[in-house]
Amino acid sequence: MRVAFAELKLPARGAIFAMVGAEARPGPSARKLDRRTKGALVNALRNGRFVGKFGETLAVPAPAGMPRATIILLGVGDPKELSERKAVRLGASLWRAANGAHAADAAVAVDTLADAAIDDAALAANIALGVRLRSYRFDRYRTTEAKDKKPSLKSLSLCVKGVTAARRVYRPLAKVADAVDFTRDLVSEPGNIIYPESLAASCKKLGPMGVEVEVLGVKEMTKLGMGALLGVGMGSAREPRLAVMRWPGGRGKPIAFIGKGVTFDTGGISIKPAGGMADMKWDMGGAGAVIGLMHALAGRKAKVNAVGVVALAENMPSGTAQRPGDIVRSMSGQTIEVLNTDAEGRLVLADALWYAQDRFKPSVMIDLATLTGAIMVALGSENAGLYANDDKLAQRLTAAGEAVGEPLWRMPLGDGYDRLLDGGPADVKNISSGRWAGSITAAQFLQRFTNKVPWSHLDIAGMAWADKDKGPIPAGATAFGVRLLDRFVADNYED
Ligand code: BES
Ligand code: MN
Ligand code: ZN
Repeated sequence: MRVAFAELKLPARGAIFAMVGAEARPGPSARKLDRRTKGALVNALRNGRFVGKFGETLAVPAPAGMPRATIILLGVGDPKELSERKAVRLGASLWRAANGAHAADAAVAVDTLADAAIDDAALAANIALGVRLRSYRFDRYRTTEAKDKKPSLKSLSLCVKGVTAARRVYRPLAKVADAVDFTRDLVSEPGNIIYPESLAASCKKLGPMGVEVEVLGVKEMTKLGMGALLGVGMGSAREPRLAVMRWPGGRGKPIAFIGKGVTFDTGGISIKPAGGMADMKWDMGGAGAVIGLMHALAGRKAKVNAVGVVALAENMPSGTAQRPGDIVRSMSGQTIEVLNTDAEGRLVLADALWYAQDRFKPSVMIDLATLTGAIMVALGSENAGLYANDDKLAQRLTAAGEAVGEPLWRMPLGDGYDRLLDGGPADVKNISSGRWAGSITAAQFLQRFTNKVPWSHLDIAGMAWADKDKGPIPAGATAFGVRLLDRFVADNYED
């Protein structure tokens, strides 16, 4: 998708979007276009059901006086209720309508709507972001797809008074969109393409952007005593890795982001049922988000010190796989009884969390993981589960999620849950002795490896993959967490 910003002078061909507020109140450009088309727009408004509701669109093809254009009215609802987040969603509506009209080029008149709660520059830039986000497709393996099945829209021009200001707002947003697409590619790739070594190689691609990337192999991890992570990788012909990415954009203690990167989760010896197992190619969604976040921070040259640590392993059953009942020694020194080899995410994170705090002494640690089916039972695909040992951190993350439309819902931690991991021959069991609160007990397990550093855990199992299109997010890999954490950094750690 080509995105450009231009002065408010509309072309005479292609799809032309003009804004209409609630109760069918045309904006200035819609009124101007109405005059140019001898009243075609007002006629359409009068005769149709379109009333300018938020996200609504109405196409008026080849109106009088503009035979080569399709004018598309874009409902924005009450201008007083517009926000950045809603502007992004408008971009998604626009994308759908432009492709519905088979347009290759679209121009949008970004008007000063009376009383709008957002200025034109931010409105234009965030609409552009929405179009960018919505236009993603993972189609590199479709070699025979007919052209008419592909989206038609190729270029978008935002026509706005104050082009420079709009471009300035858009520049970092475009970097974040690039990062989101990078993550989506990684998460969409199947397990035969993305495995620990190849995912580590993808991290290395951030090198030229100024990210310092190190990859630890089995030898280094053995020396560090990462028995929990290594145990998960034991059944696979693909060796585990730990990739470390550093973005040195600021001063002071870094913030650390840790991602679960199980490149395929069969469950191991505690094997999963066949139905739906292919979904487990996206069990590296947490790692994908951390990698994308580092991409975003480097791309927009964020003034922050950040580290990303991704724990990469493939969970396979085989003659060399770890067994239920095995006891492993983690880098922290704590021993773990692996009662269920399918509770592997917490095992790889145990060593990654310990390593991150031990080596980098971060001011905060945030981990992302497609950790439990239980969080999907609790929250579905509307919110990710947020756990934190620090209220301010929880509140900042929630606010960032709210701002970008990646919502978080805080879940409890507590001693009662923690005790469910006690008993047995080792220091901690990798599954709870009870049946309930599966997402919480997983979080309690992680907390034992945080060494009391301010920490938050995002269980994104219900969010990393979307079954259907939703606003600016097309079905498939969502890159959940990239925009959220980029915003969290921008709002709280940069000046
Ligand atoms: N990767 C899964 C969790 C998951 C399930 C993510 C479905 C996305 C969609 C995780 O490794 C897992 O298998 N968790 C088990 C834990 C159980 C064995 C305690 C689960 O949730 O069933
Ligand atoms: Mn599992
Ligand atoms: Zn898993």
